[in-house]
Amino acid sequence: MKEPILTIDGLDFAFDGSPVLENVHFTVEKGEFIGIFGPNGGGKTTLLKLILGLIPPQKGKILLFGKPPHEVRGKVGYVPQALRFDKAFPISALEVVRMGILSHLTWWGGFPSGSKEKARHALEQVGMAHKADEAFGSLSGGEAQRVLIARATVENPELLILDEPTASVDQAAEQSIFSLLDQLKQKMTILMVTHDLQTIIDRAGRLLCVHRQVTSMRNKEVCEHFALGLYHTPLTSKDHFFKK
Ligand SMILES: Nc1ncnc2c1ncn2[C@@H]1O[C@H](COP(=O)(O)OP(=O)(O)O)[C@@H](O)[C@H]1O
Ligand SMILES: [Mg+2]
Repeated sequence: MKEPILTIDGLDFAFDGSPVLENVHFTVEKGEFIGIFGPNGGGKTTLLKLILGLIPPQKGKILLFGKPPHEVRGKVGYVPQALRFDKAFPISALEVVRMGILSHLTWWGGFPSGSKEKARHALEQVGMAHKADEAFGSLSGGEAQRVLIARATVENPELLILDEPTASVDQAAEQSIFSLLDQLKQKMTILMVTHDLQTIIDRAGRLLCVHRQVTSMRNKEVCEHFALGLYHTPLTSKDHFFKK
């Protein structure tokens, strides 16, 4: 039996009294690559923010590495949904990655020594070292997303959480982001929100459908209906009910 790194039990969350997530239960084991999908407004981003400890659950429990999520942020890298910098803001790709070295900031606010080399190494890992000194705003959507993945992985997190990293990139860039994730999954556990069901079915070990409730499915239980926006719990797999 593998080690669970994330356990969610009886979780409820509402914004201003409107329920967003209800009675959510699931666990994630070390080394899994999990795809998260579901309708717009279904609660995917909210679920990720709860896992990151950015918002507290109103009911139920979340344990990340056996602790409340806000206590273990150093072990988690996050690529937020549609993080857009002002294109005119003069910051290089390397500086964006250095911003990921926050947990080790010195008390006077300077970067720790070696942070440039670390950031450069993270850029190499995502195939973007040659653009280190270019303005972040001048990069294409796919390149920018790779830099943001370098920023999220610069401190070698044990868990990497990505919220629709391929939403605003072309197909070639999307494939290159997926192959990058294929490499990263050797080293870390990955939770990734995506609308690209076909690609994620081929790559992820398991999927979570988030539609106020969260349903865990194996790849073969994903139905073509989902691609049309018709989400439902698995219909066909008998062992889904017996093999829990
Ligand atoms: N900061 C917020 N304040 C109030 N309601 C919010 C806020 N963020 C999200 N919501 C609402 O919560 C629901 C789930 O949103 P979200 O988690 O962003 O869904 P998804 O990522 O699946 O599209 C939506 O109805 C959305 O309008
Ligand atoms: Mg979202």
